[in-house]
Amino acid sequence: MKKFTINTNINIYESEQELELADQKLMEEATASVKKSYSPYSGFRVGASVLLDNGKILSGANQENASFPLCLCAEMVVLSTVSSEYPDAKILKMAITIKSMKQVVEVPISPCGACRQTILEFENRQKKTIRIFLKGEVGAVYEVESIKALLPLSFDGSVL
Ligand code: THU
Repeated sequence: MKKFTINTNINIYESEQELELADQKLMEEATASVKKSYSPYSGFRVGASVLLDNGKILSGANQENASFPLCLCAEMVVLSTVSSEYPDAKILKMAITIKSMKQVVEVPISPCGACRQTILEFENRQKKTIRIFLKGEVGAVYEVESIKALLPLSFDGSVL
C-alpha cells in the first residue's frame, strides 16, 4: 500500500481591504449582488461576481424555490450569464460572499460541490484557471489560484 498527500495552497487576507484594489472592487460587486438574492427559505444570501478578460464584471445571486432542489446557487447564476452573454470570454477571477439573515458569518464561505464542479468545467473549457476569492459577511478573505485547490482528484471529461 502506498499513500500520497494532496496539498492545497490558500492565501489568507485579514480583510477585504488587504486585497488589491481591482480585487476589492470585484468583492464589492459580489457584496452588492447579495441584495438580488431571493432566499426566503434559507435566509442565506449569496453573491458571486466574475471578472472577464474583456473587462466586464458580471454578478449573480442565489435564487430559491419552494421546491428546494430547484434552488440555484449564486455561482451557477453568474456562470450561466457568462455563457449566454459572453460565450467567448474567459473568466479571470471570481468573488463569492454572503449575508445570512440568522447570524453574522465571519468565516469565508466556500462554493458547494456542484458549483466547484461547474467552475472546473469553465476552467477546462477556457483552458485557463480562475482565481477565486471567498469571504463571509465580514472578516478574512481566502484566495485560491484555481478551483482545483478546492476540488482535489476531480472528475473531468478527459476519460469520457
Ligand atoms: N448557495 C449558493 O448560492 N452557493 C453555494 O455555493 C452554497 C449555497 C445557496 C443555495 C441556497 O439558496 C442557500 O445558499 C443555502 O444553501
